[in-house]
Amino acid sequence: MKRLAPELRKDGVELDLISLIRTILAACKDISFRVGQADLSGVLGSTLNENIQGETQKKLDILSNQLLKDMLLESGFVRAIASEEEDYIVEGEHGGRFLVAFDPLDGSSNIDVNSLTGTIFSILPVPEDKLDGTPITEQDFLQPGRNQVAAGYVMYGPSTILALTTGKGVDFYTLDKTHGSFLKTRDNIAIPEETKEFAINSSNQHKWDIPMQRYIRDILDGKAGIRGKNFNMRWIACMVGDVHRILCRGGIFTYPAHTDNPEKPNKLRLLYEANPMGMLVEQAGGLVSTGEQNILDLQPTELHERVPVILGSKQEVKICLDYHNQ
Ligand code: AHG
Ligand code: MN
Ligand code: MN
Ligand code: MN
Repeated sequence: MKRLAPELRKDGVELDLISLIRTILAACKDISFRVGQADLSGVLGSTLNENIQGETQKKLDILSNQLLKDMLLESGFVRAIASEEEDYIVEGEHGGRFLVAFDPLDGSSNIDVNSLTGTIFSILPVPEDKLDGTPITEQDFLQPGRNQVAAGYVMYGPSTILALTTGKGVDFYTLDKTHGSFLKTRDNIAIPEETKEFAINSSNQHKWDIPMQRYIRDILDGKAGIRGKNFNMRWIACMVGDVHRILCRGGIFTYPAHTDNPEKPNKLRLLYEANPMGMLVEQAGGLVSTGEQNILDLQPTELHERVPVILGSKQEVKICLDYHNQ
């Protein structure tokens, strides 16, 4: 049985970081249980609140956020947290050398229809000059994705699966619900470089920019077209689910900018969606880009910043980028 902590120790991961990851997983186990109880414990449905991005918060968005926030800030390993469901950063009282940005429940629109959801997390170091206890500010979270010391997601599906990277590849752990441990079930995940599968919300086609229009049109032309092969399409409406499929069998996932709304052109959030998923995909041999730049090299400018995302199988992402560079 390959338990998480000994496996991470073998990889040379420092003890505080292991304890922090275990704290996240303790909260995720609780979330997994509550997602599974669904109507039995009255957790489905929406609240009357909106988050800072103007999305109506589901009961499970708020519950998951509260569980993660409380456990992380009490753990002693985390100086401050940032979350999709918190307008501002929250600093803990118990010290710690890490910052955690998270999407407590990804795929909120799937909650009420018993489909895939997940939790995404990104772990950053506390900047050197703040290790003396100087208060943390939003600015301290605005580090490029390259600075992440670990990133991952927990997917709440037929099984509860953790995908984790500490910068030494990507491993999957499955929650053994008989005794509550995450056990390593696959290691050194490698995304196939080529693919015939793409994921995009096609209902937004009229909003895409010209390069994305051309790229998808050529895919849809199939074997007879310039790409010379037939593609298959998948869209789970949960980034965790789509990225998990890509880690398992390859593919390209994109959420491009929408040209109809210059004020708010993008959907996915840099700090707690694009960056952690970017680190996982890159660690599994894939590519991740905005269409112009590698996502992990972006200098964030605000906490809830949103970016266009193209990620997945290396060769396919490169082909998509060629359309953008023409
Ligand atoms: P969240 O539920 O955390 O707000 O994230 C939803 C995101 C992401 O999971 C998914 O890929 C995308 O939004 C789905 O968008 P559509 O509603 O356009 O399908
Ligand atoms: Mn949301
Ligand atoms: Mn999300
Ligand atoms: Mn969310």
